[in-house]
Amino acid sequence: MAAVRIGVVRETAPGERRVAAVPAVVSRLRQLGVEVLVETEAGAGAFLPDSAYVEAGATVTEPDAVYAAEVLLCVQPPDPTRLKAGQVLIGLLNPFGNKEQVAAWVERGVTTVSLDLLPRTLSRAQSMDALTSQANIAGYKAAVLAADTYGSYFPMLMTAAGTAKPAQVLVLGVGVAGLSAIGTVRRLGAVVTGYDIRPETRDEVRSVGARFLELAAVAEGKGEGGYARALTDEERAAQQEALQERIGDFDVVITTAQVPGRRPPQLVTQEALKGMRPGSVVVDLAAGPLGGNVEGSVPDRTIVVADGVTVVGAGNLPAAMAPGASAAYARNVSALVAHLLPEGAPAIDVADEIQAAVVVTHDGAIVNPTVRSALS
Ligand code: NAI
Repeated sequence: MAAVRIGVVRETAPGERRVAAVPAVVSRLRQLGVEVLVETEAGAGAFLPDSAYVEAGATVTEPDAVYAAEVLLCVQPPDPTRLKAGQVLIGLLNPFGNKEQVAAWVERGVTTVSLDLLPRTLSRAQSMDALTSQANIAGYKAAVLAADTYGSYFPMLMTAAGTAKPAQVLVLGVGVAGLSAIGTVRRLGAVVTGYDIRPETRDEVRSVGARFLELAAVAEGKGEGGYARALTDEERAAQQEALQERIGDFDVVITTAQVPGRRPPQLVTQEALKGMRPGSVVVDLAAGPLGGNVEGSVPDRTIVVADGVTVVGAGNLPAAMAPGASAAYARNVSALVAHLLPEGAPAIDVADEIQAAVVVTHDGAIVNPTVRSALS
């Protein structure tokens, strides 16, 4: 029997520089007994030349040959018209935000596997957790961006020219990206405060050496699967007001709050921005097409609001660190591939706990109940 072919596509989404497999992972995939086809220049955005893939044992080839493979690896979903029946597509497919693509995958009979649906707390799935690996990078990069944009020192510095006070930084939303931002900001020497609506984050924030911002007026927001729940309109208004009173105390605010399958909660209003000192910086990691945590933020744009507060709408920050992000993502993908192709060929079994969560479409139907009910 011919070996199963795994194709690594060149990403086509604007600004996407990551690649789903790096040469070190190609070698690991080949140990499964598969053939690896890599689209020409697939790694270029991450500074990985075609020759490095060839050395690792892949065949670098043109798109048609790659898209003919039985299994395709991607970061963001490729053009669905290139996919064929029975093919297995693995990537960060964002099915909740891609209703039309999900319909196309069903219609074409493609089996789709989305890493963003992986159960986060299952220990045997941790090596596959691409949301965590990419959020760690995004949080780090957001902190570095904030420091770069801010016009004064982050650390306290005593020099012959006098003493510089440390910057006061607030991180809103302390999941993976928020904790990573806190760690980075602390290493740069700023004084950090964290805030989240999940009660368990209090201890997590304190354990990484930051203060926790207590907002008495805001209800706790523990949801399912370790995630936050969406607040009601009244709770959201109370939260915005409570935050507004405190935000002016900080020089830098980094926001990372998300609720799965929903638009990000708006935490920082225009009123709150007006209460900040000129020269302050806000980095909105949640900025996206539907809005972000900061009113008026735009992805990939830096806006200076009238009173001299700079609002950085973060875009795809992991893509801005494509070599590091690709290396981590590729390791996550290869762990999932090893799980899905135990004998070197796809073994789709939605009775398996991991597959039940990550397989979106199979055999011409949406098999994931959460996606099915969200999109129906
Ligand atoms: P996320 O990206 O969905 O959200 C980021 C943060 O925003 C969360 O901490 C959330 O509570 C917070 N948030 C949402 N609405 C908010 C609001 N209105 N105000 C303030 N904060 C708000 O979350 P992420 O980073 O993907 O983490 C999700 C969960 O998964 C966490 O509980 C995390 O600890 C857990 N996790 C567990 C792992 C494990 O056990 N191995 C690995 C990775 C994550």
